[in-house]
Amino acid sequence: MGSIGSRTGTSGWLYRASKAALNSLLKDVALALAGRATCIAFHPGWVRTDMGGAGADLSVERSVADLRRTIAALTPAYTGRFLNHDGSPIDW
Ligand SMILES: NC(=O)c1ccc[n+]([C@@H]2O[C@H](COP(=O)([O-])OP(=O)(O)OC[C@H]3O[C@@H](n4cnc5c(N)ncnc54)[C@H](OP(=O)(O)O)[C@@H]3O)[C@@H](O)[C@H]2O)c1
Repeated sequence: MGSIGSRTGTSGWLYRASKAALNSLLKDVALALAGRATCIAFHPGWVRTDMGGAGADLSVERSVADLRRTIAALTPAYTGRFLNHDGSPIDW
């Protein structure tokens, strides 16, 4: 929802804008903390939470396991990037 580059849907304009704004903040934080922290914008997947609903793709356990595995494999070179829960890159 926060990606402008891979956007195809037309729903949730304000939600999408709020997530795109967070991505902009992430980029600023990554620059400000360069060399001190690795800062990533993550998409957790479409997850079966209260918000995601029962029809979502992923269980919470699967999303979190993927995020933990991806975070464990990060190096400082990844700072300022937008990644899926499985570590694949997402267009800004
Ligand atoms: N689920 C998805 O598919 C999905 C996909 C992409 C991104 N996200 C993002 O992931 C984040 C978490 O989503 P979720 O799916 O886990 O949503 P959720 O199941 O609706 O949970 C939202 C959590 O935020 C808390 N919360 C809401 N308003 C709050 C406030 N004013 N102060 C403090 N806590 C507050 C709620 O606390 P209470 O339980 O106490 O109300 C709840 O624990 C959101 O930013 C969402 O946009 C979700």
